[in-house]
Amino acid sequence: MTQVIRKAAELRDKVAAWKRSGMLVGVVPTMGALHDGHLSLARAARKQSDRVIVTVFVNPMQFNNASDLDKYPRDEAQDLALLEAEGVDVLFAPGVDEVYPDGFATTVSVAGITEPLEGAFRPGHFDGVATVCSKLFGMTQAGRAFFGEKDWQQLQVVQQLTRDLNMPIRIIGCPTIREEDGLAMSSRNVRLTAEEHELAPRLHSVMQEAAAKIRDGVPVEGALNDAKTELKDAGFGALDYLELRTVDGLKPATDLAEPARMLAAIWLGDVRLIDNIAV
Ligand code: PAF
Repeated sequence: MTQVIRKAAELRDKVAAWKRSGMLVGVVPTMGALHDGHLSLARAARKQSDRVIVTVFVNPMQFNNASDLDKYPRDEAQDLALLEAEGVDVLFAPGVDEVYPDGFATTVSVAGITEPLEGAFRPGHFDGVATVCSKLFGMTQAGRAFFGEKDWQQLQVVQQLTRDLNMPIRIIGCPTIREEDGLAMSSRNVRLTAEEHELAPRLHSVMQEAAAKIRDGVPVEGALNDAKTELKDAGFGALDYLELRTVDGLKPATDLAEPARMLAAIWLGDVRLIDNIAV
């Protein structure tokens, strides 16, 4: 039975009791509208911790676009049913006032790796993510937190944050879960029309083709330019970025001298898709 908790004080008491009996607590931070990607994180947490908390909080502070926040899918009853089936112990679903009470005045800001890619296109987004993750880690007092590699830059930001602030929590990155056609699972995918949904997996296949070319020695810029043209011709909307970056520090990569990751964000209708793959 998954218990729904909305107040940080109640959660704290519960976690304190677990910890007194020597249990390791894992947390999966989410914004709800759960899909198989989230459930794979809950399963990883289940395997690697004694008790599992999944947080569901649509964090207004990380949305730089009011209509994206309004349209963000929400279905707590279904989320709860899915978490019950995974044997999750607690669904922590605080209200906005619980997370950001009157007088809340702190922003957590990570420099450097937050600047390119998502940071350049979504000003303030990573301050919102870093602030809410700091709050959620404090509220849950978990020893491990599980994040999907789908949000690769977010994962690096959270790792940097917890390292820099000596937070007593281990961040565990888990592989991106894809639909059969290769589309990375995302809560926003439910907003794609049937036609867009058919086109969306092309993003992943075009990225894979570009990665294969780069591995075969085609210059990075040329391979990425070909991929951009293919995406445009296929019918995608504006491309925010398609870039090769070093795994360590997300610096622009012009070759494979260091391990690299290809990252993309592109519009399809009014949905923004993001994806990344190892090269
Ligand atoms: O990846 C998400 O769903 C959110 O950015 C997170 C980590 C739950 C913080 O709100």
